[in-house]
Amino acid sequence: MRMHDPRTANPRAALAAALAAALAASVAAPPLAHADEATLRLVAAPGSELVTARCVVCHSVDYIVMNAPIQGRSGWEATVNKMIKVMQAPITPEDAATIVGYLDAHYGAPPPAKRP
Ligand code: HEC
Repeated sequence: MRMHDPRTANPRAALAAALAAALAASVAAPPLAHADEATLRLVAAPGSELVTARCVVCHSVDYIVMNAPIQGRSGWEATVNKMIKVMQAPITPEDAATIVGYLDAHYGAPPPAKRP
């Protein structure tokens, strides 16, 4: 089941849609605090709206920020695949590629083997 693609809408509308979904999923969560966190925590760059829209449906972006120091590109690939396959996240392969690229660029640890 594919939801409206937020990339065609403006980012705030996409975020609102994601938050509506998140709200539906967890009625107990304080909506406004969650909204501000989701908006402020991720580095604003191409892909950040997509990541926010796809990932805060189930949990806050704290999960991303907390895992940033330990995950390189392959780590993020594994995490996003786990969210899709194990957690049933509704993310298409194209969106997953964009999300991994964004996470690696902004929240990726340098690969240990990489030396000048
Ligand atoms: C369908 C619900 C769902 C969606 C959508 C989702 N997650 Fe998760 N995520 C979870 C659950 C549940 C956990 C807790 C898993 C655990 O404790 O083992 C989790 C845990 C995590 C963790 C902690 C490390 C780990 O592997 O458990 C990270 C990082 C993470 N998610 C990133 C993401 C990212 C990035 C996205 C968007 C691409 C995303 N999640 C979308 C459900 C989801």
